[in-house]
Amino acid sequence: MTKKENQLLLSMIVAVDNNYLMGSDLGGLPWSGIERDKIHFRKYVEGKTLITGRKTFEEMKGWFQSHHTPYVLTQKSDYQATDDAFVFNTIEDAISVAEQKGVDEMVVCGGAEIYRLALKYSSKIIMTILDSYFKAQGKPKYFPSIEELRTLGFKEYKREKFMPSDQNQISMSIIWLNRDCNKI
Ligand SMILES: NC(=O)c1ccc[n+]([C@@H]2O[C@H](COP(=O)([O-])OP(=O)(O)OC[C@H]3O[C@@H](n4cnc5c(N)ncnc54)[C@H](OP(=O)(O)O)[C@@H]3O)[C@@H](O)[C@H]2O)c1
Repeated sequence: MTKKENQLLLSMIVAVDNNYLMGSDLGGLPWSGIERDKIHFRKYVEGKTLITGRKTFEEMKGWFQSHHTPYVLTQKSDYQATDDAFVFNTIEDAISVAEQKGVDEMVVCGGAEIYRLALKYSSKIIMTILDSYFKAQGKPKYFPSIEELRTLGFKEYKREKFMPSDQNQISMSIIWLNRDCNKI
């Protein structure tokens, strides 16, 4: 997959455990209090256009700041979003509008359904792997494994390891992957 100069970069940011668990049908993260990952997330998405599924958007309600541009995906035709979010019924429409506005990078912030939809258009993934096994409340939702991502052409180009500290009680790694793309 190659990326043209003026094409939008669609990236995905996600946190998973050692089984690639990332959430559940009942909502909420399977873990809490991993401040190191929150700092990383906030820093990466600062000032960017962010796209979420309607469920994740509602979990994040009130979190968005004036420097974020939130896009929300829903199948509802009459969805009234808060946080000045732009509402879309297809990811293709969201990408097209962002491209028309000259947005450089749009970051997919989950959840599982939207990661799945966005995967074929994405050329960059920033994945936090928490070095532990968590249990989801409800039906677990998973992100594709590194092995699956490799078969889709993603290659790791950077890895940061964090030993346990007061900001992350368990060790964790942040793994940066991309597919052929000229604008990382
Ligand atoms: N670990 C992480 O990094 C991370 C990040 C984000 C979220 N999460 C977790 O992920 C879980 C939520 O994920 P989820 O998969 O249940 O929900 P989600 O992806 O956040 O949202 C799903 C909603 O998106 C809309 N949607 C789905 N497919 C669509 C399509 N083809 N076109 C238009 N809209 C579409 C639908 O909204 P309507 O029902 O309104 O039609 C659907 O109910 C939670 O546990 C959350 O905490 C984890």
